[in-house]
Amino acid sequence: TKHLAVLTSGGDAPGMNACIRAVVLNAERAGYDVSGYLRGFNGLLDNERITLNAERMHNLIQQGGTILHSARCEQFRQSAVRKQAADNLNAAGIDTLIVIGGDGSFHGAHALKEHWPGQIIGIPGTIDNDVDGTDATIGYYTAIETAVSSIDKVRDTADAFDRVFVVEVMGRHAGFLGMSAALASAADFVLVPELFEDASASLQQIKQQIIQRQQSRGPVSYVIVLAENLWPNGVNALCKQVADTTGLEAKPVTLGHVQRGGSPVSQDRILAVKSGTFAVDLACKNISDVMVGIQNDRLVTVPLEETWQNQKTLGQDACKTALHLMNQRYID
Ligand code: F6P
Repeated sequence: TKHLAVLTSGGDAPGMNACIRAVVLNAERAGYDVSGYLRGFNGLLDNERITLNAERMHNLIQQGGTILHSARCEQFRQSAVRKQAADNLNAAGIDTLIVIGGDGSFHGAHALKEHWPGQIIGIPGTIDNDVDGTDATIGYYTAIETAVSSIDKVRDTADAFDRVFVVEVMGRHAGFLGMSAALASAADFVLVPELFEDASASLQQIKQQIIQRQQSRGPVSYVIVLAENLWPNGVNALCKQVADTTGLEAKPVTLGHVQRGGSPVSQDRILAVKSGTFAVDLACKNISDVMVGIQNDRLVTVPLEETWQNQKTLGQDACKTALHLMNQRYID
């Protein structure tokens, strides 16, 4: 019997369990023995492996997190460490390894090829949506919902007190989550890497907008969505600068890892089921070193290397919409 193993690696994302379920159900049906490695690539190194079967997948599709646990594995950058992983895979008789994760995990999966001749398939799962070659990654849609519902709440108290808030969202070095959350929550200003020019110009725009609104409406509330890792010295520094520039109090809210948790929304579950099913279809063929993706509602395969060679760009339509509605200085 052929043996397929699956693992989840890097930042966990809602929908990873739904994806594991799809992989296990389809692989079992296709006649595979199915294993799961625990804690990402660390489980490969420590031989932490569990047997997975259809029964174990019951009532799982709606659960956040990952039953296989996840981790980052710095030492996997070393060739000798990957050799150890390859030896372990061979000893366990694994034919196919499915890696659910993001950019860093795909680097690791691709590099394993140097020592391991087995089949490697990646499935994109990260709230950041920063993997090129697929329109969306598993977990992204749920993270947007979580951020939007939090910003809606911040907006209530911001309005009540006529206050300025800066809400910091995740996304690593990409603005997908920040931009979507800002558009859907009608934030007043959005600061994401793809639109960012420089700090003092942004501060001036924010100041001008606040002053204009105060002049026409009196006291105002103002919500800024800030992508993490963007503003020099972070969200607290931005709050202080906004306060110094406008004379208004500005409060920070860091959404943080809340965005990684919770039951996946339907879009993430459907994406997970489609991707997991397709990955097992590929396992039955002789295709390796690829990621499964979705482009314009079509399932595609993308060589793993291509998923990080180009930086995935934030849709121009989203940027344009945001500029019209929010950071208005840029309007032509
Ligand atoms: O990649 C997912 C992510 O949540 C990013 O948005 C964030 O920058 C990073 O992981 C946080 O990593 P950690 O959980 O290791 O603090």
